[in-house]
Amino acid sequence: MKINKAIFPVAGLGTRFLPATKAQPKEMLPVVDKPLIQYAVEEAYAAGVREMIFVTGRHKRPIEDHFDMTFELEVALEQAGKQELLDVVRSVKPDDMECIYVRQAQALGLGHAVLCAQRLIGNEPFAVLLADDLMVGDTPVLKQMVEQFQEWRTSILAVQEVPAEHTQRYGIVAGTPVSDRMIDVSRIVEKPAPEDAPSRLGVAGRYILTPGVLFEIANQPRGVGGEIQLTDGIAGLLRREKVFAFRYEGKRYDCGSKEGFLQANVELALAHPQLGPGFREFLAGLNI
Ligand code: UTP
Repeated sequence: MKINKAIFPVAGLGTRFLPATKAQPKEMLPVVDKPLIQYAVEEAYAAGVREMIFVTGRHKRPIEDHFDMTFELEVALEQAGKQELLDVVRSVKPDDMECIYVRQAQALGLGHAVLCAQRLIGNEPFAVLLADDLMVGDTPVLKQMVEQFQEWRTSILAVQEVPAEHTQRYGIVAGTPVSDRMIDVSRIVEKPAPEDAPSRLGVAGRYILTPGVLFEIANQPRGVGGEIQLTDGIAGLLRREKVFAFRYEGKRYDCGSKEGFLQANVELALAHPQLGPGFREFLAGLNI
């Protein structure tokens, strides 16, 4: 049971990041030197995924351009003998990776965005990655999940402990532990108030889902915020199949928020092999 397809829902409005996202996709905001969407695509590729399905909307053309061949740039770099940069540009889309684009005409919610890719998914399990959740792990987080999927063969949601006062930002799960890091989910609720949250385990933006979830999403009424929610589809799936939650090893930056985006930039710049030492010196010189 291989996971060969991943959906990247990138049609959201990005209102938390205005004005930066007024005319450009939030997923193209760079952390250090790479756009957010490239981190997510690289994570999927490292997990063995080769078919990348982007659910796009208006103002999202730069994403398609980023994963397209940039002929003029490549010729210019080649003629200038800048082989290293040429390799950087070419590595954005390896030859064995396919990019497919589907349009979500209206941002009706994450569940609706996933449903837009239904015809491309067919009847196989697939991954969903939200690029604004930037994940850093010694083993890429989706790779950890694919390994778990091969063992358990059922839908898996990435989860992390969240502060009680933040439950309203996440889908929250409750269930029974079946191993060190795995929980057999009995309930999932979208954005509950702290007093209604069944636990403090919040779903991060990585999912492996069985195709049955698409049927469930299609048959759900609109949920929280009037949106067609992926969480409600997963709650439907829970009535028919097992769904597991996986406490991944690694760190998540919420780059859909300005604070998380700044934190990611600082920490990834410090860890950058070329930029790190100089940047550390610069920060030390600020005397903060
Ligand atoms: P968010 O909840 O972060 O929504 O979506 P958003 O519109 O992008 O950002 P804010 O909250 O207004 O600042 C999570 C992910 O789901 C995608 C987004 O692009 C993001 O990657 N999404 C959301 C869609 O593709 N379509 C939708 O209708 C909603």
